[in-house]
Amino acid sequence: MSGPLILAIETSCDETAVAILRGRNELLASEIASQVALHQRFGGVVPEVASRNHLAKIQPLILRAIGRAGCSTGEFDCVGATRGPGLLTSLLVGYSTAKGLAIALERPFIGVNHLEGHLLSPFFGSIDAPCRSVNLIVSGGHTILIELLSIGSYRLLGRTVDDAAGEAFDKVAKLLGLPYPGGPEIDRLAKLGDPSRFDLPRSMLGSGDFNFSFSGLKTAVRYLLPKLEGDYKADLCASFQEAVVEVLVRKTIRAATTCGVNLVTVSGGVSCNSRLRLKIAEAAKSAGIGLKLAEPSLSTDNAAMIAYAATERYLRGYRSDFAEDADPNLSLV
Ligand code: KG4
Ligand code: ZN
Repeated sequence: MSGPLILAIETSCDETAVAILRGRNELLASEIASQVALHQRFGGVVPEVASRNHLAKIQPLILRAIGRAGCSTGEFDCVGATRGPGLLTSLLVGYSTAKGLAIALERPFIGVNHLEGHLLSPFFGSIDAPCRSVNLIVSGGHTILIELLSIGSYRLLGRTVDDAAGEAFDKVAKLLGLPYPGGPEIDRLAKLGDPSRFDLPRSMLGSGDFNFSFSGLKTAVRYLLPKLEGDYKADLCASFQEAVVEVLVRKTIRAATTCGVNLVTVSGGVSCNSRLRLKIAEAAKSAGIGLKLAEPSLSTDNAAMIAYAATERYLRGYRSDFAEDADPNLSLV
């Protein structure tokens, strides 16, 4: 199957990523230079370190992607890049590089909302265009429930009022002395633990809306920790993870039934979580609702999802204005 050939760049946070996509689903290259090891000793992302590293990595990564795809720059129909939200100094590296490339190649440029990249990622690989659905985006920076009506037309259903789910995973992992990023570590340890040992709060489960809150859960873990002795880490990880997953799953399924939508998707870094994947699959099945989960390789930050979102927009005639700036607070809804 053919279609437009699009190169896209993602540098919203601490991953430098370049992808080349032909049509909707022929991924010719998806290169990621992770900075996780670099930020690990600080226990989180340091913006200046991140942007300097993007600058060092971006050009070799573009050349590597082009080499892997086996295409030449003259073949690109369009260049895309993440416009926001994210760290401004990180965004500017990929966004300006992509604009420069588009100008040099005399091709159109498409700035992509990072959240739209996550939101559409569960549809990647399908020959059909994304359709009406209720979409949970759970990452280190966002926990948001959105109804997709059509590409570019989104309705906000709910969001976190404080910490994002991934942020809660990372903060609780830090309290437990686990390395950054904490989500995969908690997921791994939780498999060895008892999720019912500690009764942790399910904040806003009965709030009657589709908002979330995770800071109380993190605080509950902080107050519990000094009282614990012996072997508790795996049980605490399992109990914490269960509390997060239960709220995410119940609110997402409730949102779908309330909206009368029969497809649910989950994307973003936390959608890699094994318990979340299992529990939402069980809940969707018993509610008779279809489910699309982002592939784990497309869940954490990557450029394939940005290339895909740019492609869906390109196919609908959308083009960005070169004068449009990167926006660290870019909103999707
Ligand atoms: O989407 P992402 O790469 O970056 C943002 O846009 O924020 O998400 C990163 C987040 C981190 O908080 C990380 O701890 C979390 O995703 N994460 C997980 C798992 N894998 C990554 N959280 C829970 N379980 C996992 N298996
Ligand atoms: Zn992300």
